[in-house]
Amino acid sequence: MTDHKYNIERDIDRIIYTEGEIQRRVKELGVEVDEYLERNVSKEEIWSRPPIAVCILRGASVFMADLTRYMEVPIEYDFMSVSTYGDATEPGEVRVLKDLDRSITNRIVIVVEDIVDTGETLHHLLRAFHARSPKAIKVSSLLDKSSRRKKDVDIDFKGFDLEEDLFLVGYGMDYAGKYRNLPFIGTLKEELIDE
Ligand code: PRP
Repeated sequence: MTDHKYNIERDIDRIIYTEGEIQRRVKELGVEVDEYLERNVSKEEIWSRPPIAVCILRGASVFMADLTRYMEVPIEYDFMSVSTYGDATEPGEVRVLKDLDRSITNRIVIVVEDIVDTGETLHHLLRAFHARSPKAIKVSSLLDKSSRRKKDVDIDFKGFDLEEDLFLVGYGMDYAGKYRNLPFIGTLKEELIDE
């Protein structure tokens, strides 16, 4: 690890994906999304009705910035902020904190997530987006923690399968609001986590 002025790296127990591994994979995903769009959007449509990348705040912001900059197809940005909550009778309802700024009707939407865990967030978002009659919706998530899945959701452009049930920070992901700006993904030292 590099010597960091603020020493946030000293809180990391194990690096799971290095900066280099992440960048290599995100670049490949950018090419995959480009290829999909090139197959499905005409040249005229690219300019008249460009596809829209929808970043699910806040964790996906770093991945969104890198993924879209590895793409060559022009793409618009929009942002959505939600919080999931629920109890035993009504699990995982999603409360919209910030909705999209623009209409997605008749547009190709690429939903950008950092991680799909139980799938609740994505499930509710996709239902809400489909109700707005887009031309198509595809999902890109950097990580897929499928072992914890409760809702069946498709990830079209996936970075990594996370086999272990690990709590991760870095590259957009936080613990108590911190560590999002680490360029790699890792686990925190156990003594730092309040159960
Ligand atoms: C994370 C992540 C997804 C969601 C996945 O967001 O960015 O949106 O959880 O979990 P699920 O599949 O179990 O629904 P979080 O609520 O931590 O907010 P943040 O992105 O602002 O950190």
